Amino acid sequence: MSIEEMNELAPKKEVMFWNAHEIRQIEGFWFYAYLMESVAAFRSDFQPKSDDILVTSFPKTGTTWLVALCHNILHRDDRVEDDVLTRMNPHELVPTLDVFFLTDQVQDLVLNSDRSNRLLQTHLPYTCLPEAVRNSGCKIVHVTRNPKDTLVSMWHFFNKIVKRDRDTDPFPLEGAVESFCNGVLPWGPFYEHVVGYWEESRKRPDEVLFLTYEDLCRDPKEEVRKLASFLGKPFSSTSSVNGDDDDDEVEKVLWRSSLGRLKELEVNKNVVSELTQISNSSYFRKGTVGDWKNYLTPQMAGRVDQLTQLKLQGTGLSLDDF
Ligand code: A3P
Repeated sequence: MSIEEMNELAPKKEVMFWNAHEIRQIEGFWFYAYLMESVAAFRSDFQPKSDDILVTSFPKTGTTWLVALCHNILHRDDRVEDDVLTRMNPHELVPTLDVFFLTDQVQDLVLNSDRSNRLLQTHLPYTCLPEAVRNSGCKIVHVTRNPKDTLVSMWHFFNKIVKRDRDTDPFPLEGAVESFCNGVLPWGPFYEHVVGYWEESRKRPDEVLFLTYEDLCRDPKEEVRKLASFLGKPFSSTSSVNGDDDDDEVEKVLWRSSLGRLKELEVNKNVVSELTQISNSSYFRKGTVGDWKNYLTPQMAGRVDQLTQLKLQGTGLSLDDF
């Protein structure tokens, strides 16, 4: 779809997100107005390959972790000194395609690469993915997270990176809850975004894997084994005579991808990414389940819970018991 066609679809419906950025609605989802050209180019020009691996997510649901895990599974035989994540933030190594599609870095990485198993990433909802991706047979790994932690994580993140003209105070949490619940936020609404991938994962389990941040926290080894098998790089524990060796491999992947390690790397402490113009440290905070309890009032939490029940009713997906 060209930018002209997208403009026709979404002619004037622009609103301000958190008093800072114009967002526009297209096909039921909201996008930063300044990214329309990039989104349109990604949707029309991207040429997927059948062995591509596409990480998809709503922002703040565990994208950084999942990218690191996929990378470390695919490159688990690399020597420590070849560990590229010690020099690059995961978002530079695997840039968000809908955001950075028109940059030289993505053009070089994506369009001029003949590598197999290219690791790619996007925040686009399933129904907005390039038609070519949906028909390519490439593997899609989706991660989601309980809505209240997603909302709180997003509130922290956007307060760090969004420069509002008004003042430097954090955007009011009440306003963040409001925009989350009415779905008017970049890549939102959250629920429709999640359900799109959930339903596709049920239709095409061999091509779309659906993970949750909470399952990754609860049973990381099991989830990493599942992910590795899905990516075609299984660990061999079940058939291995020496299960311990294999367990070490799983632990190595988990450690290399861990918040504790990545957060302490120099590149993720004091570097502002040239590509994203964001301080790499912004991607790493607490990484816990249930941090919303420290921020949301019972009324706010109740409102989100009610909406979650309503929106996920009948889907078979549950995200509200954390
Ligand atoms: P919190 O803000 O709750 O701490 P995304 O990567 O989609 O932007 O999501 C960011 C959230 O994932 C943040 O959650 C961040 O701390 C957490 N996170 C980032 N890297 C992680 C990692 N390697 N392991 C676990 N959680 C991670």
